[in-house]
Amino acid sequence: MKANVIIIGSGIAALKLAKMLRRDLNVIIFTKSNKTTSNSYLAQGGIAVALSDNDDPYKHYQDTLEAGRYYNNEEIVAKMTKEAPGLIKELLSEGAPFDRDSSGNIKLGLEGAHGEKRIIHGGGDATGKTIVDFLLTQTQHIQIAENMTVYDLMIENERCIGVKAKDSNERTYTVHADHVVIATGGIGQVYSFTSNADTVTGDGIALAYRAGADLADMEFVQFHPTLLYAGGKGVGLVSEAVRGEGARLVTEDGTHIMEGVHPYKDLAPRHVVSQTIYQTMSKGKSVYLDISSIKNFQSYFPTVASLCRDHGIDINKGKIPVVPGSHFLMGGILTNLHGQTSVPGLYAIGEAACTGAHGANRLASNSLLEGLYFGKRLAQWINEAPVTNQIETIARKPKKQIFAHFELPDIATIKKTMMDSTGISRNGETLETQLKYLESYHIDYWLHADLDDLSLEDLNKVFMLICSWLVTKAALKRTESRGGHLRADFPVEDEGWAKRKIILQKKGDRVEQIKVKITT
Ligand code: SIN
Repeated sequence: MKANVIIIGSGIAALKLAKMLRRDLNVIIFTKSNKTTSNSYLAQGGIAVALSDNDDPYKHYQDTLEAGRYYNNEEIVAKMTKEAPGLIKELLSEGAPFDRDSSGNIKLGLEGAHGEKRIIHGGGDATGKTIVDFLLTQTQHIQIAENMTVYDLMIENERCIGVKAKDSNERTYTVHADHVVIATGGIGQVYSFTSNADTVTGDGIALAYRAGADLADMEFVQFHPTLLYAGGKGVGLVSEAVRGEGARLVTEDGTHIMEGVHPYKDLAPRHVVSQTIYQTMSKGKSVYLDISSIKNFQSYFPTVASLCRDHGIDINKGKIPVVPGSHFLMGGILTNLHGQTSVPGLYAIGEAACTGAHGANRLASNSLLEGLYFGKRLAQWINEAPVTNQIETIARKPKKQIFAHFELPDIATIKKTMMDSTGISRNGETLETQLKYLESYHIDYWLHADLDDLSLEDLNKVFMLICSWLVTKAALKRTESRGGHLRADFPVEDEGWAKRKIILQKKGDRVEQIKVKITT
């Protein structure tokens, strides 16, 4: 096993990149579990793309900015929405099985905050599975190392030169590479309610921060309004497409909770819907999706129907209990248009990256699109870059002496405290308390410690601790409410913060004015 390019993660951005890299490059994908355990694979809702006669990329661009509370990088949004039809046509020409209507045209659905029908799906509500399975057929020439947890980046002369990883037996490996790409998804699992895959514990973001990369917008966490609520837990996603087909959010007595809240009602931007459900539930009321108007629910939404069945919810009764949960991180590792981070040799794509595409709140079904767009852009960049042939065979390292480390918190407590204090609604006092709680576990030590002798379980804890601290720190600093960041003590958008980005960096944080110049 040798590598020119190491890709960490196996979601849509990783696979699109792998597929498009030059065939003479030696590419390895490291994935923490198996190749289909990812947020991309779980994605129900589809890919946003302006394909209909009524639509055009400019309308898609405008909806993206409105959902993102005009905090987006407009240049990136303009380029991504403009290239979306081309990206999808490319996949269709290669045989990607997107859903079609009876006349053979691509079916277009509606989701929250979209002014037009522009969501394409695969397998009904199994879009992520459909596209990942398809991309896996196109990447059979790529080595995919499963059950490999990358736990450190190797930095030499301020350049990333490779990774350290552990297999499921906790044996350690080092691999050198010209290019190291983080595509590990976001941080969903740091919250007790989440739609994310079990493996999404913020690893890539913690790795990059430890390595000295700039992070941005960590305070902007999107809470999806509707996870299925069963046994006191959020047990999986109920796609927004269900509301796109007419479902309404109601309380036990049938009161429609989105009435009078936003002109798009149940299809308002996600932060508006999640915050309304959260406020309703805070008053002790349960919230349901009334699906009684949707005919053939089972055939439209097979994934949701089987999730309900598995948790004893009878969809024929017309009501699905729901709860909001963490879904997507708008922030992450700060990158430019090619996916480069502030550390030479290190790149980030997909949810792990902060490209500015999503602003303060992501528009529904723009994440798979972002993965495709930046996977392709980074491939173009790497394909043109000189290859240094600095390739090394993976060496299994001798077992090291075990060092004593500081104690780590248990995972359930991290998740609960994050949900309570750095969740859907935040305030200065609880954020301060949460920050102190997290710092009591010696964050500074974990930012610098040698992690070679940690168990896989403790590595997860370290990454979750670091990411929780980063989100909490940024959330405390942004004294306004915008998109996914709701401060109960600063409840409105503040013009002073409108274009100010909180950049977190190991050597010192800073606040930067966003510079946006549209060049297309
Ligand atoms: C959903 O199906 O509601 C999720 C789609 C998305 O997050 O964009």
